[in-house]
Amino acid sequence: MDVIINVENCYLLLLLALIVSIPACLFFLVRLREAIHSSRRLPPSAYAWQVVCNMSMSPLGSLANLAQIYGPIFSLRVGALLIIVASSPKTAMEILKARYHMFSGRYIPSLYYRIPRMEQSSVLGAKECNDGWKYMRAMCHNWLLSVKAIKLRNEVRERKMMELADYLHAKEGEIVTIRDVVFATLANSMGNMMVSRDLIDLERECKSGNQSLMGFIGAMLTVLGSPSLVDLFPILNGLLGFWERRKAKKLHQEFKSLWEEVIEERRQAKCTGEEPSQDLLDALIDNGFCNDKICALLMEMLVAGTFISCSTIEWLMVELIKNQGVLHKLRNEIENTGDGDIKNASSRHMPYLKACLKETLRLHPPKLFVLPRRALETCTVNNYVIPKDSVILINIWALGRDPMTWDEPLKFKPKRFLESQLELKGNVQFEFIPFGGGRRMCPGFNVATTHIQGIVALLVHCFDWFLPEGINPDNLNMTEKFGTTVYMKEPLSLIPRSRIP
Ligand code: HEM
Repeated sequence: MDVIINVENCYLLLLLALIVSIPACLFFLVRLREAIHSSRRLPPSAYAWQVVCNMSMSPLGSLANLAQIYGPIFSLRVGALLIIVASSPKTAMEILKARYHMFSGRYIPSLYYRIPRMEQSSVLGAKECNDGWKYMRAMCHNWLLSVKAIKLRNEVRERKMMELADYLHAKEGEIVTIRDVVFATLANSMGNMMVSRDLIDLERECKSGNQSLMGFIGAMLTVLGSPSLVDLFPILNGLLGFWERRKAKKLHQEFKSLWEEVIEERRQAKCTGEEPSQDLLDALIDNGFCNDKICALLMEMLVAGTFISCSTIEWLMVELIKNQGVLHKLRNEIENTGDGDIKNASSRHMPYLKACLKETLRLHPPKLFVLPRRALETCTVNNYVIPKDSVILINIWALGRDPMTWDEPLKFKPKRFLESQLELKGNVQFEFIPFGGGRRMCPGFNVATTHIQGIVALLVHCFDWFLPEGINPDNLNMTEKFGTTVYMKEPLSLIPRSRIP
């Protein structure tokens, strides 16, 4: 009797095991089939070692270069991340326009979101285009980035430009690092547009090489652009998560020390009924933002609004030094418009200045890739499967150097833009997209062009520029330093001589 019961139990157990395991097996087989099927149709795959072991460039730089081997779209598996790199106008158009809703997600390394309140107040880092993103983007547009907001702050921006001119007049005959003076001017201009206050002392900061604020913004950009080991191998989260949290806390403390005092002062001024400054900070306080959220947003705007424009101006200046014909033509245009008054140069019609800016952004895009996008759903591009959550990089660098689009692509020829219909944004064929495209396109376009055109017009109109002894335009070091932003490896140093009192 006992034996019979045991055998029955065994049968029952076996039956149960079968019932449980059949669906599990089926599920496993389906997933396996899906995985094999989709991996077969993934874009051609490059090897991670080709990127990491490229000794002459950083991983980002070599990733941009791999387009020459693998063509318009390829994939790369690095740890848990599947990266898709698109390098032709057609693929860029398919991703940013035809399937924009699928690719409107953003991929930002996890450390960024560990900074308190960053995720809730970020425009740039918003994981998708949700209501929070819309709200923050609209706030920034209304109070900082729109043409109307920029016009409201014309006077203070022009004052910052004049301070730059005064500083350079005083430095006549001395070597000046262009990056430092331009960065300081941009930071103060952004500071005044956001919180009605200077952020750094031009004189003092240029002496110390802007290490404090510039170094900090550089660190933020690295966080934005470099996935950590935890991103690549999430299994390490338990082990390294602590270290990431500590790093995020340190960054948070640093930007609190930059903004908290001005926020508190403004809150107090509001209590005592002082006249409002009507800037972004006022708007954020009036809309009930807490200090952490305000700090996070101000920091993001400062990071986005200084480094990239600074690098663009440095590249433009070095190209002008190397191409004296272009410099003279540009100077003529500035002198012949608005009676040589450069105060509101950025708002005047100066097609050659604009062409110089476009040509600089084509040949030396400060961002090699459109800020990484994330696939919100599995979909297809060029008949290849792009799995959900893939990281999408659109290779602006390769687009700007494609010989199919550009005649003599490696030459600096602003004239090409005078003869073409290509604009800085909104080009239908997507062959030139320095500000990205679609819903997540750069909202700082107006601020960037106003700053860059204004500062370049001032530098070109008010000063003659000479290279330090022993350097001539032909042996100038044009090596790029690839990172989240592409910089000149050796900062451009020039000697100013005043042309206009
Ligand atoms: C030469 C100057 C600049 C260049 C070349 C540039 C380029 C870009 C690019 C390529 C993107 C990604 C767009 C996409 O995903 O399609 C971007 C995003 C962004 N940029 Fe700029 N940018 C510049 C200046 C600025 C300035 C001055 C600001 C603000 C003051 C700014 C704020 C932003 C923000 C907030 C985003 C994120 C938008 C979103 O995700 O919704 N940028 N920029």
